[in-house]
Amino acid sequence: MCGIVGYVGNSSRKAAGHSALDVVVEGLRRLEYRGYDSAGVAVVADGTISSRKKSGKLSNLIGELEANPIPESLTGIGHTRWATHGGPTDRNAHPHLSDGGRLAVIHNGIIENFAELKQELLGKGVTFESETDTEVAAALIGDIFRTQLNDGGSLTEAMRLACQRLEGAFTLLAVHADQPDVVVAARRNSPLVVGLGEGENFLGSDVSGFIDYTRRAVELGQDQIVTISADSVEITDFFGAPAEGKEYHVDWDPASAEKGGFNSFMEKEIHDQPDAVAQTLLGRSDLDGKLTLDELRIDPELLKQVNKIIVLACGTAAYAGLVAKYAIENWCRIPTEVELAHEFRYRDPIVDSNTLVVSISQSGETMDTLMAVRYAREQGAKTISICNTNGSTIPRESDAVLYTHAGPEIAVASTKAFLAQITAAYLLGLYLAQLRGNIFSGQIKDVLADLSKIPAKIQHILDNAGPLRELARSMKDEKSVLFLGRHVGYPVALEGALKLKEIAYIHAEGFAAGELKHGPIALIDDGQPVFVVVPSPRGRDSLHSKVVSNIQEVRARGARTLVIAEEGDESVKDYAEQVFYVPETPTLLMPLLTTVPLQIFAAELAGAKGYDVDQPRNLAKSVTVE
Ligand code: M6R
Repeated sequence: MCGIVGYVGNSSRKAAGHSALDVVVEGLRRLEYRGYDSAGVAVVADGTISSRKKSGKLSNLIGELEANPIPESLTGIGHTRWATHGGPTDRNAHPHLSDGGRLAVIHNGIIENFAELKQELLGKGVTFESETDTEVAAALIGDIFRTQLNDGGSLTEAMRLACQRLEGAFTLLAVHADQPDVVVAARRNSPLVVGLGEGENFLGSDVSGFIDYTRRAVELGQDQIVTISADSVEITDFFGAPAEGKEYHVDWDPASAEKGGFNSFMEKEIHDQPDAVAQTLLGRSDLDGKLTLDELRIDPELLKQVNKIIVLACGTAAYAGLVAKYAIENWCRIPTEVELAHEFRYRDPIVDSNTLVVSISQSGETMDTLMAVRYAREQGAKTISICNTNGSTIPRESDAVLYTHAGPEIAVASTKAFLAQITAAYLLGLYLAQLRGNIFSGQIKDVLADLSKIPAKIQHILDNAGPLRELARSMKDEKSVLFLGRHVGYPVALEGALKLKEIAYIHAEGFAAGELKHGPIALIDDGQPVFVVVPSPRGRDSLHSKVVSNIQEVRARGARTLVIAEEGDESVKDYAEQVFYVPETPTLLMPLLTTVPLQIFAAELAGAKGYDVDQPRNLAKSVTVE
């Protein structure tokens, strides 16, 4: 949801080529994956605010800036929008101005009491141009700055007083023509990080907003205000009490946030997967096959007492959670539930101090997941976050974190984060089993050895994807595609369907293969394409043969069966129009391989349709509203 950037530099930085506008636009380019309904900037120069904004993608704003340039400046803010209040129009684009055009504000989140505040401000004669809640926040800050602080106050103070009246989730950034050397920001339940430079400082929704300029970042806490100038960063709470941010080093490489010769970030990220899995495994076990998850700072004795695990996540991350359930229950014998985070806290769930809540989130900012984690903590549960983004809110608010090391994921459709999440969940499951003595250390060693072979096996799939790509291109006019799987193949089927829906806008559904006969088989008609994810024939025999029967059932009704199976599985050939083989691996680990062909299929098909694979319609990478 919405990308936010702020910058203040001194004149020597400007001489070095860092103009506020350039830095802000570059930041927006990197953050555009967070929302692309509109983009806008404001800079403070020559005693006034200059602002440009345009609906649609960032390229529209860049065109506007070329047609109508704005002055050189040392201070600026920028925004890419995912619309919530008000349609994706020029008028509703941020920044929003107030105080006679001398104050500019950008915002991520939802201000829940905006209607009430708007009435109050209308009563004071304030007028509004947009339908947004952001303009109300801008008007409130402007009103406080101009009327309550009698011109003598500071923008920081006005922001504090405004935040005391705002309800909901927000990151707000403001610049004022009267205070040209600062950007003031506030955060509640919405992401914001500070970047520290020499003679310049930065603000971003995440570190990609300033990754080209500095690797020094500062995490902010809840309900904090930060004022940056070229040489200072001051943090307080909403009432002015000084607060400290936590500095950390950003280990993401700017090059890893570039397409690297691929047509889309999604293609590049699919190809990053061998590395994402390898990096997530790296340094987490010793030569004897013992898991060493030192970063899990939860007392091992408490983990031994856990009698229930609840995995909370949304979207793709929830499908990673479903895979985790099969593995954790198998290895640890602890009942494990997986729940969509937004459903969890509204149903009065049974959670106590012996419950371990494992949240999974690439961004670490998904509001539904964050709120569910908070709720679980309030009920006394222990919380572990599996997360890809250092310094983000969910790990910060959890008892412990197990980072996935997938590197920045820019495409809205999640790929490498999914495989890294599954890998991290396996490590957590094995660690719990080791701690509780559920399985022999020899078995853990064997699973780790199998996991260590996965990156090369993914590479093999990537290198041999020609026929799959050809199939995808030939299917670009399909109206509906179904996906079937059993056991760990079921979440893979769900993920295959989600990928196709979100980037190719094709109706797609994933089913547990056994469920088909209870209704969905009625959808099968002549030529209906059905992908079937087949488990290893070397695993539990009945599982494999049941799925082979399911293939026959749909084929008998006219389906066009497209089968993902393990190399050497000849038994599926007779019932499949096409088989795509993945290398051998134990059944529980198969999702790390069987997902990959489905990702490639979706990306290739969406590309063949001419769609923007990285920025599908109506979506945003990080969903920071409930
Ligand atoms: O950042 P998160 O992992 O918490 O995001 C969760 C979902 O919003 C995300 O996985 C979404 O479903 C992706 N667009 C799927 O490709």
